[in-house]
Order: sequence, then structure tokens, then C-alpha cells
Amino acid sequence: MTTLVLPSTSAGIQQAAELILDHQPVAFPTETVYGLGAGVFDLEGIARIYQLKGRPSDNPLIVHICSVEQVALLARDIPDSFYSLASTFFPGPLTVILPKQPAVPDQVTAGQNTVAIRMPAHQIALDLIKAVGQPLVAPSANVSGRPSPTTPAHVLDDLDTKVAAVIDGSATEYGIESTVIDLTQDPPVILRPGTISASELEAVLESPVRLTTDLDTEVTLAPGMKYRHYAPEARIQLFYTPQEILNSHLPTTTTLVLSDTPAPELTSAGYIAHSLHPTSLFAEFRQADKDGFQTIAVLVTPETLQNLGLMNRLQKAATGS
Ligand code: TXA
Ligand code: MG
Repeated sequence: MTTLVLPSTSAGIQQAAELILDHQPVAFPTETVYGLGAGVFDLEGIARIYQLKGRPSDNPLIVHICSVEQVALLARDIPDSFYSLASTFFPGPLTVILPKQPAVPDQVTAGQNTVAIRMPAHQIALDLIKAVGQPLVAPSANVSGRPSPTTPAHVLDDLDTKVAAVIDGSATEYGIESTVIDLTQDPPVILRPGTISASELEAVLESPVRLTTDLDTEVTLAPGMKYRHYAPEARIQLFYTPQEILNSHLPTTTTLVLSDTPAPELTSAGYIAHSLHPTSLFAEFRQADKDGFQTIAVLVTPETLQNLGLMNRLQKAATGS
């Protein structure tokens, strides 16, 4: 099949909605990364999503809504804390886990009794959900295990000729996926760190939240976190000082350095260094493969360590877990 690249006009969005209503998943931009969308009640479209991505069937999908009222379709026993978070962070890069309504298909939640919900802060995404007339399930629009796509070109790299269409919304704003918080646990648990931090969530909830640091707990709670993630073909290695990189004797011709501060010791030693930032991380991963780099040496500074969303992606890409 020829993959259509649709313009972000109302006609383009309408055409995308018609494809989705015809059970054909369409890739669309959000403020985080591109998603691959199907109707939340469309079992045929959902099966295609798993097939297109090569996604394990025990990894549940996030449901995207265009109004807070749609939550009632999807979740039950909704706590007040949900409405506090929604009034501050929706639309935005936050996904909330709630007990699910029986009507939500098991294929969406991978058989769990909870459902993940978010309202993207992107007009194309909101208009598309509205045009389809039901919430959209949307995992990141990459082949499972590859870095999430932040441009239409990345979507085509992975899914050209396989997916019916991608809506061209140019590059995404944040570059890493939404923060996932589980409100069915007490205290609430952050299953996946993102742009919205634990302290921002605590300030709104007026109570502490827990971060999953115990990998075993994480595996049970967020099935997706146990799979190899975000990884390019190049090997990713984390270093904590420029000297460590110099000592590694990695070849300068096949090693790309990523650093959030200038590293003159490394560039004068012949290394190519690009800036390390969440908005460009996945694009750098993909470009490094195209440019033939074999290793990506990440210089982790005290500042990098502060950004838990970024560190989470780096660690997963580095360990291959
Ligand atoms: O920013 C984002 O969240 C992007 C855009 C497209 O919205 N979506 C995204 O979806 O990252 P995906 O499928 O790549 O990641 C969803 C994560 C997975 O780790 C999955 O296991 C977890 O959310 N998840 C989904 N439903 C869950 C549930 N009921 N309980 C626990 N974790 C859940
Ligand atoms: Mg993903």
C-alpha cells in the first residue's frame, strides 16, 4: 500500500478520520511523539496496530480523549485527584491510569482492569479525535523497540507502505512520551517519567507520589516498561565525565557524543558532539544510525541527572531492557 502523507488541514484530518472509521490506523502528531491511532471500540483497527508495530499483546494502549467528559466512557470510580490533575495538566503530556469501564475492550488494556487516558495538547490530535467521534487508542507510531517518532519522516522510516496514512504536523514539541501516573495505587505511582515532573504532580495532588525505581514493580504495573525501548542500532554508553570518554578510547570516527554542556576536551580530541536534549533525543538516535555511528557516548552531567524523563530513556536505551 502507498502511505499517504496528509496535510494538517481540515480536509486532511477528515480523510484521516475516514480511514480510521474504515479500521485503518493512521499516524498523527501529538505534543510528545507521533501516535498510531484507531478507535477505542474498533477491534479490527486495534488488532492492526499491534500487528503493524510488532507490539506484544500484553502491552496495553493509551486512550486519547478530546474532552474531559469522555473519561466517563472509559473509567469508573474516578477519584477527585483525577479532576485536579485534569484541570491543571489536560490537555498536556500526562497519562492517568484509572479503573476501567467494562465497555473498554480487553485488547486496549491487555486484559488489565485499568485504563490509561490522556488528552493531547495538539490541535490536529484533538480535531482528529473529534472527527472520528470516539476516543482513539494510540501507541507511539514506531516499530516496537525503535525510538519513538518525532517527525513524519520517522514514522515513514518505520511504517512506510504498511500504514495507511500519516498526518504531517512537522516536529513534535516535547520529543519524549507523556508522564504516566497510576491513580489506582495509594500513594499514586509514576510508572513512566516524562516532561511533567513528580514535584509538579505532588503540588497539585497535595500529597506525595511514588516513583517506580524497583524494576520488578515496574514490570508488574506498566507492562510496556519491560520491553527493550527507544534503542537505535548504535550502542549507547553512559559516561559521567569527559575524561571517562577520553579513557574509553572509542574511535572518534564512529562515536557520536551527546552532551547537554559544551565539551571542548572531546571536540578538540576529534569527537563529533551534538547537544543532548529531550526534544531531539530520538531524532539524534535515528540520525546516528543513518550516519553510520556505531556508538553513542552520552555525557551525563549533574544537570542531565535532574531530568528523570530524559534519564529514563537513556538508561533504557543503554541497557537494552
Ligand atoms: O506521549 C505518549 O504517551 C505517546 C503519545 C502517542 O500519546 N504514547 C505512548 O504510547 O507513548 P505507548 O503505547 O508507546 O506507551 C504506553 C505506555 C506503555 O508503557 C504501557 O505499558 C503503559 O503506557 N500503559 C498503558 N495502559 C496501561 C495500564 N492500564 N496500566 C499500566 N500501564 C499502562
Ligand atoms: Mg512506545
